[in-house]
Amino acid sequence: MTRILEPAAVAAYHRDGFVFPVKVGDAAEARAWRDALEAHERKTGTPLQGNWRHKTHLLFTWADMLVHHPRILDAVEDLIGPDILCWTTNFFIKEAASPGFVSWHQDSTYWGLDPDDVVTAWVAFTDANRENGCMEVIPGSHRVDQLPHLDTFHKDNLLSRGQEIAVPVDTSKAVAMPLAAGEMSLHHIKLVHGSAPNRSADRRIGLAIRYIPTSVRQLKVRDSAMLVRGTDRHGHFDPEPRPAADLDAGALAAHADAVGRQVKALYQGTAKTEFRA
Ligand code: NI
Repeated sequence: MTRILEPAAVAAYHRDGFVFPVKVGDAAEARAWRDALEAHERKTGTPLQGNWRHKTHLLFTWADMLVHHPRILDAVEDLIGPDILCWTTNFFIKEAASPGFVSWHQDSTYWGLDPDDVVTAWVAFTDANRENGCMEVIPGSHRVDQLPHLDTFHKDNLLSRGQEIAVPVDTSKAVAMPLAAGEMSLHHIKLVHGSAPNRSADRRIGLAIRYIPTSVRQLKVRDSAMLVRGTDRHGHFDPEPRPAADLDAGALAAHADAVGRQVKALYQGTAKTEFRA
C-alpha cells in the first residue's frame, strides 16, 4: 500500500532515479509560498542572502510548514519509509535573464550521507520549464557508481563548489523535468542532473528539500536534522527545532549552528567557512 504515489511511480523512482510531476498544491498555494519569500526580500531590498538559502526552514515558519507539508511527506514516505528526517533545504533561485546554471553532478559527491537512501523533493514556487532552466536528469544514472567530480567554483554555478562530473556525460539521454508552480519532482541522491540558465523575463524559484530515513548516517561531521515524521530510534543526528517566529533569536541561533555543521561537511578540504552568495 502506498500513500499517494501509484505503485508504478514508486517503481519508476527506483528504476529511473526520479519521478515527476507530483502535485503538492495549486497555483494559489504556490503563489503564497513565493509571496512569503518575496515579502522578506522586499524588506531587505535584496534577493535572499547566501547562507539563508540553505536550511531556510529553520528561519521562516512558511518554509517550516512546507517541509512538513503532508502531501510532500506522503510521497517521500512512499519512497523511504515512515521515519523521516529533513536534512536540509536549498533554494535554487534563477533571476530573470541571468547566467546562473547548475553543472552536471551527483548530489552524493560531498554530502557525507550513508547509505545513499536520500530523496530530494524539488518544489516549484514558479513554473519551471526549458526556457527558464528546469532540471534535467539522466535516467537510471543513480544505479552507476559515484562518478569523479571536479571543483570549478565557477561564479555562475549555483552549486556549493561549482562541482561538475569529470567524465563525459551522454546528454543525448537527458530528460527535462518541467513543473507547474505547486508541483514537485523527486530524485535520488546519486542521479546525474543539471540545469541551464534562465532565459525568461521572470524569476525561476525552486526549493530543494532533502529527506532521509532516520537510519542514514553522516560520516563527515556530527550533523543535525529535523524529525518531520515518525520516530527517530537511531539518534545519528542532533535534533533541530522548528522556528517559533520568522527570524527570531532562537531560529537564528539554530540556523547558525546547523549551517556551520553543514558548511564543515560540504566544504571539507577547502578554506570556505560559509556558503557562497
Ligand atoms: Ni543537485
